[in-house]
Amino acid sequence: MKSGFAFAAAAALVFAASSAAAQVAKPPAFAACQSCHAVTKGQKSGMGPNLFGVGGRKAGTLADYKYSPAMVKYGQPWTRANLIEFISNPRTAVPGTKMIYPGQKNPQIAGQLADYLLSLK
Ligand code: HEC
Repeated sequence: MKSGFAFAAAAALVFAASSAAAQVAKPPAFAACQSCHAVTKGQKSGMGPNLFGVGGRKAGTLADYKYSPAMVKYGQPWTRANLIEFISNPRTAVPGTKMIYPGQKNPQIAGQLADYLLSLK
């Protein structure tokens, strides 16, 4: 009985460690996004759409969120390249977007943000 418990505990630890390794750490720059965006599965969208599962999703298609006509028209899948372009300069990538964010001008940080978003699944 005792050893069975130890085995289960060890297995749980291994599982926790491997799922943690698959996660990309949240970049500090994401603090600027978090006031408007939820990132947890099933969480209601706030000022902006929930970004859980945004990787590969077509822009402007989350059911519980009312997008700008500009974002719906843009309609591209959120690939790494498209995310970086949008994060770097939202109003150039999607003219008419209602996302009020000036853009992350450091390409390295924009890349980290894109990698973090792609890991939310
Ligand atoms: C002031 C609030 C606000 C901030 C800050 C903000 N966003 Fe947004 N975001 C929005 C809104 C509003 C939309 C919807 C835009 C539209 O419909 O035109 C959006 C849309 C998006 C989308 C498209 C999602 C989809 O479902 O198509 C992505 C990706 C995104 N934001 C990422 C970010 C990232 C990354 C940051 C931080 C660097 C950020 N946002 C900062 C409000 C914000």
